[in-house]
Amino acid sequence: MPRTRGPSARTISPLLLERFGWHHERVIRAARPTDADALADVCLRTALSGEDATGRLTDDRLWADLFALPYLELEPDLCWVVELGGSVVGYLVGTADTAAYAESFRDRWLPRLDGRYPLDRRTDPLEDQLVRELHDPERDLLPELVGYPAHLHVDLLAPARSRGWGRALLATFFSAVRDRGVPGVHLAVAPDNHRAMAFYSYLGLRELPTVRGTYLVATSDLL
Ligand SMILES: CC(C)(COP(=O)(O)OP(=O)(O)OC[C@H]1O[C@@H](n2cnc3c(N)ncnc32)[C@H](O)[C@@H]1OP(=O)(O)O)[C@@H](O)C(=O)NCCC(=O)NCCS
Repeated sequence: MPRTRGPSARTISPLLLERFGWHHERVIRAARPTDADALADVCLRTALSGEDATGRLTDDRLWADLFALPYLELEPDLCWVVELGGSVVGYLVGTADTAAYAESFRDRWLPRLDGRYPLDRRTDPLEDQLVRELHDPERDLLPELVGYPAHLHVDLLAPARSRGWGRALLATFFSAVRDRGVPGVHLAVAPDNHRAMAFYSYLGLRELPTVRGTYLVATSDLL
């Protein structure tokens, strides 16, 4: 698969180069099954609106089992990582068809978790909400989103932000779903994630109110 060149070397700070031991290679590449642990790590370290969520839940793995790893398993052709100097520092995972994804999630992904997250009432409201979401893969099948059947999650570790990788990952995803004839994309953002909201809004995604809160949407020719 061809490698996508990222921002020019001049835009990468010396600190970043040192931190990731960068040696000329800076790529967006297709994610591989062997990236699973790296994806889970990035997911956990960015899960609280970009901040590290380590220790926030009783089981750190829940974040990735909900927001990252099922995509790698069910939609491997729509998952990419940013790799700098041999380390995965970010990813985008998504699906072109949220309804089909929900069905695969219920039929193929949930059984693999082997009862790790039972649907008992939990004392922590955030954990309770996430476990309920895990057991309700059809939650995003809303009439308002029918014209935007694709969705995605994108996360970069802090040192890799503001270098153009977020835009490049989104452009890669939009191009891929456009090639599949998909008319639009939606995504959910935590209401307190103001930086991400500003990023999406800058790129031209717009807010769409639904019965389940506000989503961001765009036609697939946006990027
Ligand atoms: C949100 C995120 C994906 C954005 O990616 P990024 O690599 O930092 O953003 P980019 O450098 O690609 O920015 C692209 C453009 O958006 C602009 N932009 C980025 N963040 C912005 C902000 N907060 N406000 C206004 N503009 C912003 C940039 O200036 C850039 O403009 P340009 O292309 O004209 O130069 C990344 O910061 C991230 O992973 N954050 C933590 C995890 C997270 O919140 N994920 C989203 C969950 S919904």
